[in-house]
Amino acid sequence: MTNSSAFAALDQTTSENFGGHAARLSCARVTLTDFRCYDHVRLEPGSKPVVLTGSNGAGKTNILEALSFLVPGTGLRRARLSDVGRRLPDDLQGRAWAVAATIEGGEFSVNLGTGLDAASGSTKRVVHVDGEPRRALSVLAEHFSTHWLTPQMDRLFLDGSQERRRFLDRLVFAFDPAHAGRTKAYTHALRERSKLLTDGKMDDAWLSALEDTMATRGAAVAAARLGVAQRLVAAAKKTDAVFPAAELAIDGLAEQWLCEYPALEVEDRLRAALRTSRSRDAHSGGAGGGIDGRLPHQSDLLVTHAEKRMPAGQCSTGEQKMLLVGLVLAAARMSVQDESRVPVLLMDEVAAHLDAKHREALFSEVLNLGCQAWFTGTDADLFLSLRGKAEFYTVDAARVYGTD
Ligand SMILES: Nc1ncnc2c1ncn2[C@@H]1O[C@H](COP(=O)(O)OP(=O)(O)OP(=O)(O)O)[C@@H](O)[C@H]1O
Ligand SMILES: [Mg+2]
Repeated sequence: MTNSSAFAALDQTTSENFGGHAARLSCARVTLTDFRCYDHVRLEPGSKPVVLTGSNGAGKTNILEALSFLVPGTGLRRARLSDVGRRLPDDLQGRAWAVAATIEGGEFSVNLGTGLDAASGSTKRVVHVDGEPRRALSVLAEHFSTHWLTPQMDRLFLDGSQERRRFLDRLVFAFDPAHAGRTKAYTHALRERSKLLTDGKMDDAWLSALEDTMATRGAAVAAARLGVAQRLVAAAKKTDAVFPAAELAIDGLAEQWLCEYPALEVEDRLRAALRTSRSRDAHSGGAGGGIDGRLPHQSDLLVTHAEKRMPAGQCSTGEQKMLLVGLVLAAARMSVQDESRVPVLLMDEVAAHLDAKHREALFSEVLNLGCQAWFTGTDADLFLSLRGKAEFYTVDAARVYGTD
């Protein structure tokens, strides 16, 4: 997986430089309104790491989920937006909800707001930047960036490719905000093409235009993934002896071609492959499955435990967790090295699943990187070594109390 043209293409688009030093993003203030179990709650942690502890069902993950809505997408639970609004026992459906946050990073500060708009009754998520409504969710990626690890991701290496691809794409967004727009344009063209094909509308000009979008955006998506994957491997190897280093490969047609041909030729090949697979795709539901099922929306991230030469899916549960933590830390380290923006980390119940050595290594790495990580757990004792270095909150029955 080394192709200079693919990586050169990426280098032109990635890593905004923030004037010689990394901008460590933090969510300095966040307010949740009618969000999940919360009617109204406000946290003002500033730039330090955050520890949220409390019993099961208290509302810890809901706070991390709220922060995950500050980037494009459906949040860390991949929830339906209508499920997110607060529901009382007799409510048939959730209310309109809102998350408002002040994001700081180096010299800048921006107010982001998102949620479901009660007045319009729309089912779409709305976005405000510094009070101004904005049309596209993708604008959020310009202002905020986050990586998350959740208990559901414990199955990341065992289940289908979709979640691994999403995980990789989220890592890429952090370095290249335009990745969100490209992925969206690709997916939009893919859907349109599928619809035309399954409806039997073989309009050559229309299909060619859609395939052109898929080819150009698909090649760019693949190049961005390859570039970030390659740099992540290097960043994971560099300093971190505690978390296992991962080897990464991407199983996808465009990614493979980018390792063999210049980017423009890859676009041509994708265009030609899409054109010749039209009739097969028309019969198979139209989603590009005719091309070996390896188009950019089907690519898979293959992770191997480098030292053991063991595919991640065959590693122990704890080793899989450590590989994931190692990758997320490597991504944060890469941002620091790039002098770009360092994402906020959302670590839901991560500490409880690590042994003491790795837990402490995670805390000290977060402190060394100077990034804002939000940790949750039921057992406050696990976070003792962060006392005085992080903001501590107790969450109890949908109320949040600051503790020293
Ligand atoms: N739309 C909603 N309206 C009201 N309450 C909700 C809604 N969605 C989820 N909840 C409730 O929010 C509560 C807190 O959930 P959350 O996942 O944040 O708990 P937690 O503190 O992370 O617990 P655990 O330690 O078990 O992971 C749960 O009781 C859940 O049922
Ligand atoms: Mg939880």
